[in-house]
Amino acid sequence: MKYSKIFILSIIAFVLIKCHSQKKAQYELPEAMLPHVKVMYRVQCDKGQILYDLNCAKCHNTKVKGKEVIPDFKPEQLTGYTLRVANAQHEKNMPDTLVTEEELSIIMTFLGYKKKNNPLLPCCKGK
Ligand code: HEC
Repeated sequence: MKYSKIFILSIIAFVLIKCHSQKKAQYELPEAMLPHVKVMYRVQCDKGQILYDLNCAKCHNTKVKGKEVIPDFKPEQLTGYTLRVANAQHEKNMPDTLVTEEELSIIMTFLGYKKKNNPLLPCCKGK
């Protein structure tokens, strides 16, 4: 009886941990980065992900088997300021009254350091 309670509790804990960790993208920070700098970058990336979800995800995310996939942009595509006018959609939908200069740079940090997608997924050519 005692053991079955422990068993059920550990299943609940496992499910909760799984759900929690699935929501957040992981980041690939350089090995050489000092631990306290990594902490700062993770905070910045977490903010960037929230801003990305609000401002960019609706046009750029794809769904694979019901899971939202954030594209892997190449570093040369993450141009910050000029990205606003990169195409007609951006010009119309990303004025700096909506996404400030600071927010855009936090989003760039997130996109630059987020873990790359599995290259075997059909969606993820890095657009
Ligand atoms: C209204 C739709 C829309 C929104 C909102 C949007 N984009 Fe885009 N974005 C596009 C389209 C369309 C393209 C060009 C076609 C493509 O490559 O998919 C593009 C291209 C890009 C590119 C590639 C540029 C290049 O040089 O090839 C990047 C990077 C990008 N968007 C980032 C963002 C970020 C960051 C945000 C949020 C701040 C955002 N986009 C919001 C529609 C959108």
